Amino acid sequence: MKIFVVGGAGYVGSHCVRRLVAAGHEVTVYDNLCAGHRAAVDPKATFVEGDLSDAASLDGVFEEARFDAAMHFAAFLNVGESVHEPLKYWHNNVANTLNLLQCMAAHGVKRFIFSSSCAVYGEPEKLPIVEDLPKNPINPYGNTKLAVEWMLQHSAVAWGLGSVALRYFNASGAAADGRIGEDHDPEIHLIPLVLQVALGQRPSIKVFGTDYPTPDGTCIRDYIHVEDLGETHRLAVEGCQPGVVEAYNVGTGNGNSVREIIAAAREITGHAIPAVETPRRPGDPASLYADPTKLRKRYGWEPKYRDVKKTIETAWRWHHAHPRGYDD
Ligand SMILES: NC(=O)c1ccc[n+]([C@@H]2O[C@H](COP(=O)([O-])OP(=O)(O)OC[C@H]3O[C@@H](n4cnc5c(N)ncnc54)[C@H](O)[C@@H]3O)[C@@H](O)[C@H]2O)c1
Repeated sequence: MKIFVVGGAGYVGSHCVRRLVAAGHEVTVYDNLCAGHRAAVDPKATFVEGDLSDAASLDGVFEEARFDAAMHFAAFLNVGESVHEPLKYWHNNVANTLNLLQCMAAHGVKRFIFSSSCAVYGEPEKLPIVEDLPKNPINPYGNTKLAVEWMLQHSAVAWGLGSVALRYFNASGAAADGRIGEDHDPEIHLIPLVLQVALGQRPSIKVFGTDYPTPDGTCIRDYIHVEDLGETHRLAVEGCQPGVVEAYNVGTGNGNSVREIIAAAREITGHAIPAVETPRRPGDPASLYADPTKLRKRYGWEPKYRDVKKTIETAWRWHHAHPRGYDD
């Protein structure tokens, strides 16, 4: 298939692009590099530097290539920032997605794979999280993801768009061969932050809240390996059908606490990784982990990385070899 990938120079996008290229697809990456890295883009993919807000540029790329499908990773994703600067999030995550959908409608491209998030559920009523639980986002970031899912439903009815929304849990790890990995600036995710302590780049890791109703008192999350995400995107784009709206949780089905992640990182890196306990952050649900049964049944997908230690090992290999990320 000829696949347009916006945000393909970012963390999750770059791993997915590699998987698509390896599976024989012809990929065009479109990215403004505001958070992505040119070096992360698979050399076999075509790269176009451009912004989703630039409708004329998008139109030109679609006019030339005649894509079978589009994949959309380009968004801002810092939950805390979204609370302070909500319009920045509505602009990039929603208004710019509208541009892309309008371009797709104009060019008759009817397959769309969307990076959604478990943030659409907010504070879940029960665990593990199944897809039909109520969607009650508790921050602007989660709202923008849900708003796009609504646009996808309306577009299916109105002009036959087929879509697969993949609601990721915590994307983690790096390519098994160490070629690409996570490089966000500023870094906001637990595993790379913990590994930055092991590299001597931070004095300690903050643990936000030790009084949650979880076995060790710290928050529990579902850490899904970025290469497992890559495989779900391949399956989704190959299975997506015009007019059909699909949405899936993408997680391992297991939760790990903050303390467990730090302990695993100490074991893997051999570094003491001092932890500093601080009060809870507002808006952090105690536990979030997926029930990935729906994705397994529809696509036969199984995560290869079930043990978070294996995931952290791949992340460590990347961070150890690239302490300054793609600048190394
Ligand atoms: N990382 C996670 O744990 C996680 C979890 C759930 C959902 N998601 C979603 O997955 C997607 C990818 O996340 P990520 O961690 O790879 O983020 P990232 O910041 O590494 O990648 C996003 C990419 O999109 C590009 N981009 C952003 N706005 C753009 C625009 N207007 N025009 C062109 N390019 C633009 C950036 O330069 C970057 O390369 C996001 O939509 C995010 O909301 C991520």
